Amino acid sequence: MNAQPIDLRSDTVTRPTAAMLAAMAAAPVGDDVYGDDPSVNRLQAVAAERFGFPAALWFPTGTQSNLAALMAHCQRGDEYLVGQDAHTYKYEQGGAAVLGSIQPQPVSNQPDGSIALTALAAAVKPDDVHFARTRLLALENTIGGKVLPLTYIAEATTWAHAQGLATHLDGARLYNAIVKLGVSEREAVAGFDSVSLCLSKGLGAPAGTLLFGPSDFLARAKRWRKALGGGMRQAGFLAAAGLHALEHHVVRLKEDHDNAAHLAGGLAALGLNVDPVQTNLVFVEIPSADLAPLKLYLPTQGINLSMAPKTRLATHLDVTREQVDAVLAAFTRYFEVKKHANGVLASTRGSGLPPGLIDSLSGTRA
Ligand SMILES: Cc1ncc(COP(=O)(O)O)c(C=O)c1O
Repeated sequence: MNAQPIDLRSDTVTRPTAAMLAAMAAAPVGDDVYGDDPSVNRLQAVAAERFGFPAALWFPTGTQSNLAALMAHCQRGDEYLVGQDAHTYKYEQGGAAVLGSIQPQPVSNQPDGSIALTALAAAVKPDDVHFARTRLLALENTIGGKVLPLTYIAEATTWAHAQGLATHLDGARLYNAIVKLGVSEREAVAGFDSVSLCLSKGLGAPAGTLLFGPSDFLARAKRWRKALGGGMRQAGFLAAAGLHALEHHVVRLKEDHDNAAHLAGGLAALGLNVDPVQTNLVFVEIPSADLAPLKLYLPTQGINLSMAPKTRLATHLDVTREQVDAVLAAFTRYFEVKKHANGVLASTRGSGLPPGLIDSLSGTRA
């Protein structure tokens, strides 16, 4: 068994590499609330240039960056169009409504992660005293590990602008899309007025998200960042990690994508239903009878998963191909024992599987 658990719960679980820690330790810093942290300023300038925006603003988290962006785009009583499955709608505690007085108008995501333009058009409110004012379209890329097609992004953002709506991208995992498509940063963000890019997901920094946009928009977002408690002082130590990630951890995302494809193939070969994989996230259906036993068994093999009827497994910087194979071997062993559990229980007693698991597989214990 590995000393460190094989942690596939999320790509946020990575720890800084030795080289990243060295870059952090050597970072020149200042007080970023006063705007004089050289490492933060450098990261913001380098990233803004790469993505083709006039400026960038560092945030401690993606949730805060998205919220400040929504609050900078929308006023109290405005609304934003957003995917039903989007992080900014579903997984941020309704922060835009709770803290920003902004109404979300969720619209169903299609199987590929996009939102049909007809459905968006039907959700835009007329200028009428009864309705919230529709102000913004917020998309996410990648969404559930799926890459939005560039043609769709061009159509959706052109449509939004024609309605007088601004456009925001939650690009927490945008670099996974960029590497998958083999396009430039600028191509990937074309059409968006603002973009939020996490450095702490696949890129492996311990914290940090960059918000890109025009200078007046970022000035408003910066005010909200302070109100939301995100004005940090010597944030340059974290910005240095972000810079290191941009320089060293982008190209290698392909390894994560390859590992995810390998993992998905192996799980499908065991007869499990696995969604098609595009980037670093694998979604597999776990039969209900196997949920509890697998929850019991996998930790004994040093494997950490968030087990659910549809389980997400994330590959990342801290997961090697050998570890992916170890995960597949554990799943294989589990299903083999299960197959034999009713007939030849005794022979599995020396298999290394915990007795509780064997008993539960045999139906002798709840
Ligand atoms: C798509 C997406 N957007 C935003 C966030 C928020 O990032 P953070 O955890 O840094 O707040 C996450 C976090 O997992 C995410 O997956």
